Amino acid sequence: MAREAGDIAWAMGLEPIYVARDEAELRAWCSSAKVILEQDVDQYAGMPFVIGIGENNIRRAVAERFKDSLTFTNLIHPSATFGCSQREVLEHCKGTIVAAGARFTSGIIVGDFCIFNQNTTIAHDCRVESYVHVAPGANLSGNVHLKQGCWVGAGAVINQGSNTEKRVVGENTTVGSGAVVINDCEAHAVYAGVPAKRIK
Ligand SMILES: CC(C)(COP(=O)(O)OP(=O)(O)OC[C@H]1O[C@@H](n2cnc3c(N)ncnc32)[C@H](O)[C@@H]1OP(=O)(O)O)[C@@H](O)C(=O)NCCC(=O)NCCS
Repeated sequence: MAREAGDIAWAMGLEPIYVARDEAELRAWCSSAKVILEQDVDQYAGMPFVIGIGENNIRRAVAERFKDSLTFTNLIHPSATFGCSQREVLEHCKGTIVAAGARFTSGIIVGDFCIFNQNTTIAHDCRVESYVHVAPGANLSGNVHLKQGCWVGAGAVINQGSNTEKRVVGENTTVGSGAVVINDCEAHAVYAGVPAKRIK
């Protein structure tokens, strides 16, 4: 995910610097881009940061660790498209990453440190809380509410809720790749299949 976040930065005309947890991770880095050690990150504190970590709990832990020392920005790929006033909503987030081809229509509320991966589609009046990851090609139909820390797998579809009752995916719940969610999902659970059923 870090390399993918870096690719978005390049596409925005920025030159990313990557952060490795330790010497081993730094040595294993397979690109010519600049990499620094996490222990040296304070030297770059004036720069804007994102957390290119796909796993929600780890991203949240890193965000907490650096919340007072680093400034977090958003990365929005130039090919992402937005309905009326929706881009401004995204720009008010902190640490949120929007990958190539994502589409947001309108009336959507988004929290901090979310990831909207390639070609995700987020329809009208959705609410996405912080630390959510929507994997490539997933579709949130209108009036869906993703609670904090949930993960929507690649190509999954969350069917629409209504103006009065959103379709809710509970906190920290995972929806498997290719699932079609037609009912609300409980918190701290795993759902998969068509239609999606709780499997864990
Ligand atoms: C749903 C998921 C989270 C389950 O992972 P897990 O907890 O490790 O579960 P297991 O692999 O042990 O599978 C449990 C059961 O669910 C089934 N299953 C797993 N993933 C499934 C899926 N996406 N759709 C339908 N059934 C699925 C397995 O076949 C297995 O069935 P069985 O018990 O009858 O053998 C995972 O398979 C998944 O889909 N992850 C999302 C991947 C993704 O979108 N990646 C994008 C990266 S950016």
